[in-house]
Amino acid sequence: MLTELSLTYFRNINKSVLYPVTGVNLLVGENGSGKTSVLEAIYLLAMGRSFRSRNLKHVVQNNQQQCQLFARISQGIPVGLQFSKTTGLQIRLNNAPLKKLSELACHLPLQYIPANCHEFFELGPRFRRRVVDWGLFHVEHDFLFHWQAYKKVLSQRNAALRNERPNEEIKVWDASLNVHGLKLAQYRREYLKKLVVQYEKWFRLLCDDFPKAKFELRYLPGWPKSEDFSEVLHETIDRDRALGYTRAGPHAADWSIKIDGLDPAELFSRGQQKLFFLAICFAQISIMQQVKEQKSVLLIDDLSSELDSNHQRYVLQAIKTLKVQTFVSSTNPDLSAILALNENDAMFHVKRGDVRLT
Ligand SMILES: Nc1ncnc2c1ncn2[C@@H]1O[C@H](COP(=O)(O)OP(=O)(O)OP(=O)(O)O)[C@@H](O)[C@H]1O
Ligand SMILES: [Mg+2]
Repeated sequence: MLTELSLTYFRNINKSVLYPVTGVNLLVGENGSGKTSVLEAIYLLAMGRSFRSRNLKHVVQNNQQQCQLFARISQGIPVGLQFSKTTGLQIRLNNAPLKKLSELACHLPLQYIPANCHEFFELGPRFRRRVVDWGLFHVEHDFLFHWQAYKKVLSQRNAALRNERPNEEIKVWDASLNVHGLKLAQYRREYLKKLVVQYEKWFRLLCDDFPKAKFELRYLPGWPKSEDFSEVLHETIDRDRALGYTRAGPHAADWSIKIDGLDPAELFSRGQQKLFFLAICFAQISIMQQVKEQKSVLLIDDLSSELDSNHQRYVLQAIKTLKVQTFVSSTNPDLSAILALNENDAMFHVKRGDVRLT
């Protein structure tokens, strides 16, 4: 949760300080006013990277050398970030230099829902794995350990394959790959089962178009389900040699949810696809809230795109049920009426890089 946010020379924002509330923080303003930039600043503080620029020099205001962000998170802990075009990125958490980005993610769990989130269906399995792994990172204590160990062994096996080492040198990694790989596959399967149950609940709150539909999880662990992972590694070694990398394993996993056996990408309208993605994010937050004390933050960019006013209202009502601090951007000033603001909510007006409470 954020209680204070300050931005200096960040995109088109010269200097703005805001004190977010615990409920919904609406950011309303015209195109190009700086709404997405505020969300980007929060994302950067939580993740150490931007969702729209690979090179952080683009977030620094034109004609400036550096930008600064500062936030107070739960228990008043300060997080400071500075990016200089000459000296690069520096992050301080609780007044000490940050050691690992995962520390930051632990302190400020964050979900970001982009304006074009309905395109989720067209993105590759890497994005779908990222969704599950975000959840597991926050709820499964040993997930990060197994994931990092798996990645390390996988890169060693791949290096051996690339360098055309003899089979015995390649197989030396298989036992370890199998141990961590099976653990990851098991975590993902169990998490996804919970996710689908929660997803269905949230989706039905957001969309009443499919009252009798059956929602079903499809999970592909990254190798043929009926086979043993270590056997697959053993049997496909010649193919891996030819490819120069390990094909099978949790790094190739994928999942989807079918509606009455159909693919949502084929069945759903764009608005329904957006509601689908929102329901997945809400499900993840509710699973996290069951096991973690840490309060997460939800960012929704351009809520109004693809959604009519009734569905925008359902989304905002769901956020209130979820009790998660949320930042919602929109060009629609009527959103405050849809939301029916109460004391836990606030509306900020964003105008040419200036953010003000209204
Ligand atoms: N490095 C930069 N320095 C100065 N201005 C910038 C920089 N990068 C982007 N901008 C400008 O910042 C403004 C705000 O962009 P932002 O994407 O935050 O707007 P927005 O309010 O989300 O608009 P929309 O409703 O169209 O999504 C834009 O006019 C953009 O051109
Ligand atoms: Mg925007």
